[in-house]
Amino acid sequence: MTVKEEIQSLKKEKNALILAHYYVPAEVQEVADYIGDSFYLSKIATQTQADILVLCGVSFMGESAKILNPEKKVLLPDASSDCPMAHMADVERIQAMRQQYPDLAVVCYINSTAELKQHSDVCVTSANALKIVKALPNKYIYFIPDENLGQYVASKVPEKTFIFNDGRCPIHAQLTKEALEQAKTQHPEAKVLVHPECVPAVLELADYIGSTSGIIQYATESPSNAFIICTEDGVLYELQQKNPDKHFYMVQENFSCPGMKLVTLKKVRDALKYEQNQVTVSKSLQTASLSPLQRMLELAK
Ligand code: 13P
Ligand code: SF4
Repeated sequence: MTVKEEIQSLKKEKNALILAHYYVPAEVQEVADYIGDSFYLSKIATQTQADILVLCGVSFMGESAKILNPEKKVLLPDASSDCPMAHMADVERIQAMRQQYPDLAVVCYINSTAELKQHSDVCVTSANALKIVKALPNKYIYFIPDENLGQYVASKVPEKTFIFNDGRCPIHAQLTKEALEQAKTQHPEAKVLVHPECVPAVLELADYIGSTSGIIQYATESPSNAFIICTEDGVLYELQQKNPDKHFYMVQENFSCPGMKLVTLKKVRDALKYEQNQVTVSKSLQTASLSPLQRMLELAK
């Protein structure tokens, strides 16, 4: 049996589903039951009857799935597949901000630890941050942990006052305006599609700004046939599947998230076979971090 065949038979035997983020390697996306952005994966996790979810992504994704479904077994193919940005905020500063601004909403990007979520009022993803922040009654928004996504949302909601946090995605934030200008010179006909984790100077040059699924949808529906991609290179798999005749140029080489690339087919097989790398969240943390996630699912409807 090939590894893929083993995975198929283990899935049936154990009533398991494989959920994969667009950034994991193509071989893993190929065996997934659902592929999507962070928002889609958290929504799907609440809608399935499966007993086991194998979350092919970084650890905050597995943690979110577990918080939303404490009764299910949630497995990570690689227990060390972390997102560094998920840790880039601190509880003391959240508490200090709450003291300083009584009418404050702490808005927490889903790329965060459960510990940060439990001190937040609502979670967001890049697909729904704008909609959710607009819907909040609060005037003051403390946006954690991603300063760049926070700046992007703030630019679209001038009626609210934002407090930013010193955190960012090390992969997206290293893309410079100069590198994008160079790519535009090489492919002047191409539309520029950018993830909002990039710095504001890069966002200014975009034809479209959105989540990974937004980028894929835009390219698929666009009459253009060439695109410069300013996000992690895992999205190329789905972009090419959906648009075999279009041209996609990565803005630069090595636009790759190390945590996401730890997820391999063999590790998916082993996680399922041995039911290893189970995500655990204590009962008190699960209860406290559930409501910001549920509020996100509610407000994003
Ligand atoms: P999405 O919200 O588009 O899934 O992006 C998640 C992420 O980790 C981006 O770096
Ligand atoms: Fe985290 Fe950046 Fe990797 Fe996304 S691309 S999971 S934000 S490190």
